Amino acid sequence: VTRIGILTSGGDAPGMNACIRAVVRTSIYNDIKVTGIMRGYAGLLSGEYLAMDVGSVGDIIHRGGTILRTARSIEFMESSNQDKGAEMLGQAGIEGLIVIGGDGSFRGAMKLMERGIPVVCIPGTIDNDIPGTEYTIGFDTAVNTVLDAINKIRDTATSHDRTNVIEVMGRSSGHIALQAGLAGGAESILVPEVPFNIDDVCARLLRGHERGKLHSIILVAEGVGSAVKIGESIEAKTGLETRVTILGHIQRGGSPTAIDRLWASRMGSRAVELILRGQGNVMLSVHKGQLAEKNLEEAFKKSNELDMALYKLSGVLSI
Ligand code: F6P
Repeated sequence: VTRIGILTSGGDAPGMNACIRAVVRTSIYNDIKVTGIMRGYAGLLSGEYLAMDVGSVGDIIHRGGTILRTARSIEFMESSNQDKGAEMLGQAGIEGLIVIGGDGSFRGAMKLMERGIPVVCIPGTIDNDIPGTEYTIGFDTAVNTVLDAINKIRDTATSHDRTNVIEVMGRSSGHIALQAGLAGGAESILVPEVPFNIDDVCARLLRGHERGKLHSIILVAEGVGSAVKIGESIEAKTGLETRVTILGHIQRGGSPTAIDRLWASRMGSRAVELILRGQGNVMLSVHKGQLAEKNLEEAFKKSNELDMALYKLSGVLSI
């Protein structure tokens, strides 16, 4: 192998830059050239390629976002464009590809593998929703961003004796809500994995209120439904003054935490080593706390299950 390519695809996540840096530096350390492909599969098809050197990844380890930009490419879902993508990689002399992204990005990678391109996939999404890995790059930073927001909202909730409903991202999974909610001491955490009853949520709020608790934080994962509607319903049913905050895309930005930078660095470097050893066509994973390789099919099996012990604990600690 003399040249590898790297792209980021799907929603960006803090730590992607640290991962790109690790890929480029490990390649150059091993005398391999690196082509950066801009804007994911969209840039692969439009030929937006960038020669990368040691300096091109300087001063990025601490930055959120992705210097390679990203996109969710609809056109790459077409088989003719997948053929074209594989051909273009060949023409650019790219003998192995590293893809950082979520499950949609991995599906694109699978199409290139089927066309003979060795690919290593690295899980990068704030949602932590990829089956086959306990961890995805960006998750820890997102959880800490939400935690910071909870702390701030709690200040004003306390001053005003209010109930605050906070909606967080996570697509159809509740990992961000659960971990940030538990760490932030939320009174209720609503996740798509566990059905909830609004009357139970309200009864719990009123019980707390009767005990003298004047403020409450309810964390809602976006996969559950509209936090605005949930907030309105809580106010109508309990009579407690309620405010709603949708945290939105602030959860996708920011300087990555040490945990995200460390996994990003280890995964980026291992991905290059695997391609050099001829062991492409895998995804990297955190398995029982260790860096591991898995068949890419693992990523498509079933949804990454919520830690139910943690969920139960959140209920115990917020009685
Ligand atoms: O997958 C990451 C994520 O931020 C999800 O949590 C969210 O549902 C989605 O992307 C938002 O997508 P977009 O940035 O396209 O609005």
